Amino acid sequence: MRLRYVKGARELIEAHPEYIIDNQDQNRINPNKLFVKPQPLHLEIGMGKGQFVYTLAQRTPEVNYIGIEKFDSAIVKALYKVLEEPLANLYLLRTDAEDLSVLFKPRSIGRIYLNFSDPWPKARHAKRRLTHPRFLRMYETLLEAGAEIHLKTDNDGLFAYSLETMEEYGMEILDVNYDLHQHGSCDIIMTEFEEKFTEQGVPIKHLIARFKEDTNG
Ligand SMILES: C[S@@+](CC[C@H](N)C(=O)[O-])C[C@H]1O[C@@H](n2cnc3c(N)ncnc32)[C@H](O)[C@@H]1O
Repeated sequence: MRLRYVKGARELIEAHPEYIIDNQDQNRINPNKLFVKPQPLHLEIGMGKGQFVYTLAQRTPEVNYIGIEKFDSAIVKALYKVLEEPLANLYLLRTDAEDLSVLFKPRSIGRIYLNFSDPWPKARHAKRRLTHPRFLRMYETLLEAGAEIHLKTDNDGLFAYSLETMEEYGMEILDVNYDLHQHGSCDIIMTEFEEKFTEQGVPIKHLIARFKEDTNG
């Protein structure tokens, strides 16, 4: 994603620890201290400007959400939304996904959303894809038994790669859809990238997968 420098983003992030965790010192996150209600915790990793997770949190008050993004210039846009109308069940986390195993307790996450993750098409960058086996290993540790990963993308290469790595890892693929908006349900919450690609007529690919019980833990 092309990101422009946003003046004052760092200062705004640092000024609002009540809505956003800025992962500078890698302290473990205690969801019970962030949220009013102890409820299932779902993550969106690489949320960009946060439209998806913000809308999902509005619609699903019985779940707690943390929207994760590594760049100040993107996450500050999500912070604007939260500052305008805070949600008791949404927190933001500025971090690289690489650090999630340090930040969250094993088996503490009820679902992970990966929406329009950077495809990193060059083979030499494959390790950076958020569905590379090294990330799957980390998700397996973080997710509760039976918890799902939901993935959406415009990118055929990343979609095929993700399906393949998940299957090779021994995950169960619960749903695969090569044209979500054609064949999916009508109350889809669109991300910023999804809106752009859908306008261009690019089919949105979607999958739901989970780790098999005997490989988890
Ligand atoms: C292509 S954008 C998609 C943004 C949003 N999910 C959407 O669909 O509109 C991918 C986002 O993931 C973030 N991202 C990529 N790798 C990441 C990582 N390792 N940790 C956290 N965020 C990451 C990028 O900074 C970028 O904002």
